[in-house]
Amino acid sequence: MNVLVTGGSGFIGANLVRLLLAERPGWRIVNLDKLTYAGNPENLADLAENPRYRFVRADICNGELVADLFRTERIDGVMHLAAESHVDRSILAPSVFIETNVRGSQVLLEAAREFGVKRFLHVSTDEVYGSLGPTGLFTEETPVAPSSPYSASKAASDLLALAYAHTFRVPVVVTRCSNNYGPYQFPEKLIPLMIANAVRDLPLPVYGDGMNVRDWIHVEDHCRGLLAAFEDGKDGEVYNFGASSERHNIHIVKQVLDLVGKPHSLVQYVKDRPGHDRRYAIDSRKAQAKLGWAPRRRFEDALAETVRWYVERRAWWERIISGEYLRYYEKQYGARR
Ligand code: NAD
Ligand code: TYD
Repeated sequence: MNVLVTGGSGFIGANLVRLLLAERPGWRIVNLDKLTYAGNPENLADLAENPRYRFVRADICNGELVADLFRTERIDGVMHLAAESHVDRSILAPSVFIETNVRGSQVLLEAAREFGVKRFLHVSTDEVYGSLGPTGLFTEETPVAPSSPYSASKAASDLLALAYAHTFRVPVVVTRCSNNYGPYQFPEKLIPLMIANAVRDLPLPVYGDGMNVRDWIHVEDHCRGLLAAFEDGKDGEVYNFGASSERHNIHIVKQVLDLVGKPHSLVQYVKDRPGHDRRYAIDSRKAQAKLGWAPRRRFEDALAETVRWYVERRAWWERIISGEYLRYYEKQYGARR
């Protein structure tokens, strides 16, 4: 089986490529990644000599190249993760989100239609459902109502993927997962950003009142879900993944400070994110019943392990917290203090 993974040099992609190579010895993985600011070849550098792995640096929007890759690599299945993934960046500069997340996804769907694949897994997010009040959970039946340019671009690509399933019989499965954490996450996202700041005694910028809720899942649990959906999902269906770990942001930020051994006085409340979704919480009973999947990691243990990973790999994140990232950080947080 020749599987094309897009975005394999990013956070979830890197974890997924490792899982697939370990769990499916008969598979060959082609990783198509543009290496944007978020893509880090170091994440998979140790695979360079692995005959079951090939890295191709390219843009998913390049239709000719994508078609050529499907042809020459005889791609049987696609796991599509490449995306612009950060909400705050989508507020600062939305265009590239439309280009990569919507147009890039359509380029891949078109290639899948032309060359035929056994499965096209479109990896999406619970953010397409919008924001919840204090109660209730997102199910696969919840109407999409995205609020940020990021989530709107993901909802658009989800709908395109489902339209390709319906109209052209491309064997699409869409997955929608809650907030991930774990190794290799770019330190612009809540948990690694707070760890990196705590380690350096920098202020921890909490948006608004810190009472927004996210539903956290360890990246390994998500990746096992993606493999299950790829193999056992039904064409044209949507599956939600989550680990029933709802937490207020401020609670997590204080937990990170405790784990790093730094005082809570490092918390700095800053101006809220425009259009900030209040609460996400996901019902993953369909995936559990139909895919035989269940989350394994407990939030408190896995958070402690994640904090250790970042503390021990300071060189990994210090190398990427430079140049472009510093300019972004100043733009994002400079005016908020
Ligand atoms: P990430 O930002 O860490 O990685 C994205 C990867 O895509 C990077 O390696 C980047 O170089 C690559 N990429 C971006 N634009 C590209 C282009 N035009 N052509 C080729 N490659 C390109 O993101 P992530 O957190 O690993 O998320 C992966 C996927 O999972 C995304 O589709 C995201 O929407 C989805 N998702 C993420 C979360 C989460 O909590 N991080 C939750 C649910 C769903
Ligand atoms: P984030 O990791 O950006 O994920 P998403 O917005 O896709 O859920 O943010 C998670 C939560 O943490 C969200 O409610 C925004 C909040 N947040 C902060 O309070 N401060 C920060 O510096 C960041 C990056 C996020």
